[in-house]
Amino acid sequence: MATRRDCLKFTLATAAATALPQARLLAQEAGPLLTRAVPKTGEQLPVVGLGSSATFAQVARSEDVSALREVLQALVEGGGQVFDTAPAYGASEEVAGQIAHELGLGERVFWATKLNAVPRGGGTADPAAAREQLETSFRRLGKDPLDLVQVHNLADIPTQLALLQRYKADGRIRHVGVTSTSKQAYPRLVEVMRNEDIDFIGVDYAVDNRDVEETILPLALERRIGVLVYVPFGRTRLWSRIGDRPLPDWAAEFDATSWAQFMLKYVLAHPAVTCVTPATSKARNMLDNLGAGRGRLPDDAQRRRMVEFIDALPPAP
Ligand SMILES: NC(=O)c1ccc[n+]([C@@H]2O[C@H](COP(=O)([O-])OP(=O)(O)OC[C@H]3O[C@@H](n4cnc5c(N)ncnc54)[C@H](OP(=O)(O)O)[C@@H]3O)[C@@H](O)[C@H]2O)c1
Repeated sequence: MATRRDCLKFTLATAAATALPQARLLAQEAGPLLTRAVPKTGEQLPVVGLGSSATFAQVARSEDVSALREVLQALVEGGGQVFDTAPAYGASEEVAGQIAHELGLGERVFWATKLNAVPRGGGTADPAAAREQLETSFRRLGKDPLDLVQVHNLADIPTQLALLQRYKADGRIRHVGVTSTSKQAYPRLVEVMRNEDIDFIGVDYAVDNRDVEETILPLALERRIGVLVYVPFGRTRLWSRIGDRPLPDWAAEFDATSWAQFMLKYVLAHPAVTCVTPATSKARNMLDNLGAGRGRLPDDAQRRRMVEFIDALPPAP
């Protein structure tokens, strides 16, 4: 019987690499993506990356993952680098690691994965299970040291962040961080940002979801913590709010040619943001998203206009 690995090899071999020439052309003609420095290390990262829950995870779970091959190719050949994943996203981490390995792209990706070995019902993480989960991520992603590992959803910070710090001290993880996309958990996130030595946070931020602008993003600037932006489209929320409305003409003032670029440029214009990682399962959308990392970003007045426009739309059904 064919194994999952056999199926993956077959689909990779038969996939049409249509995204590749387009991505290369884009990178050549439109020039490199804007980069931002990781605050504590100065390492420059392209500002648009790729997330891997949502639709990416759905396709990763299916038998035909050829579309994801094109998405990863488009990310790297189009000038991006950051790939955000987690053991909790089903097959995403494993499939992305294998595709990158087969395409010879593994070393060109900045792998950002997560740790959460707390049992489903809650409580604390078993350190042995946490170590096992980390070793599985090393095997799947094929890179040692890993570029970034974050404690997923702030779960058992005392055990899990301490473990990540030890791996960092041993040279096996280059950056450590914590993530949260829950408003109720923001006070805890702030506490961790104030009291722990972390390189990154991952948080939800979108043109219609701006709570992090109050305390979290200013604190990230103050404490020199890098920021990965999650859920920049509200997953499906902003798409349903926008519907089939045309992009306003004034989006051209900051070089946005699509709604995706409009939404991504809004978050990228905040100086605390290091990289935004929207998820996609389509190479054409990956290339569209990379376009947000080129050209001008909106200034403060333009950002206010963007907020007014979006806030005037009906809420998502
Ligand atoms: N607590 C945490 O650590 C946490 C929580 C949430 C998210 N995250 C991370 O953040 C990433 C992003 O968040 P998300 O995936 O929830 O939502 P999202 O990036 O806001 O939205 C993804 C959706 O937008 C669509 N899309 C992407 N690019 C598009 C384009 N150019 N035009 C039209 N549609 C487009 C995708 O569909 P298509 O496939 O059709 O493009 C998908 O349905 C996640 O994948 C994950 O890596 C982390």
